[in-house]
Amino acid sequence: MKSIKLFISLAALLLSVACNAQNTSQETQNSATSTTKQKSLIVFFSHAGDNYAVGNIPVGNTKIVADYITELTGADQFEIVTHKYDGMAYKPLCDLARQEKINGELPPFEGSIDVAPYQTIFIGGPVWWGTYPQVMFSFFKQYDLSGKTIIPFTTHEGSGLGSCVDDLRQAYPNATITGEFSIYGHEVRTGKSAVEKWLNSLKLTE
Ligand SMILES: Cc1cc2nc3c(=O)[nH]c(=O)nc-3n(C[C@H](O)[C@H](O)[C@H](O)COP(=O)(O)O)c2cc1C
Repeated sequence: MKSIKLFISLAALLLSVACNAQNTSQETQNSATSTTKQKSLIVFFSHAGDNYAVGNIPVGNTKIVADYITELTGADQFEIVTHKYDGMAYKPLCDLARQEKINGELPPFEGSIDVAPYQTIFIGGPVWWGTYPQVMFSFFKQYDLSGKTIIPFTTHEGSGLGSCVDDLRQAYPNATITGEFSIYGHEVRTGKSAVEKWLNSLKLTE
């Protein structure tokens, strides 16, 4: 009788150990799943107003792409805003942007963002003189994105990505920079499917 009782106690103990092990593995799985469900962030700059290729636009080309990304993935947005270029005609803006680039100026921008909760960060902007506008470099200087995954994108009128990916690599040597995308500014309004195709190719986990 004693040995039967001992056997039953042992069996109960083994069963409880097995259940606990299963719970632990379930918890690990859950926390892994919630890690991959983190939201992405889109950091972008876009200039509304006089635009050589598409006339006077109320919403900038890059902003339209950022909005597609949010619509299709649920990513949050941080828009790099400066009023330095408000109301400027295309030609004077080109001259000013060129001078800013030559001088390595870092124009200030408005607002701030806590990037800590985001593992994946899209960075997008127009190509100005072959790379992102200088005000985006102000953001790069201010925000450490080491260890993050950065997905660059641009809108442009012929330069594609220009040197944006290389410049990001230089700004963020300790980030993973991957999955870049560019689209002509004058095509963004009819380009949602191209953006969707790109996003699908990234296999985002959220
Ligand atoms: C100051 C300035 C410089 C530009 N330089 C380039 C360039 O070097 N290469 C290019 O392909 N397009 C260039 N463009 C065109 C813009 O990249 C394009 O219109 C872009 O879609 C604008 O995006 P946004 O409306 O979001 O600002 C330039 C436009 C401006 C205003």
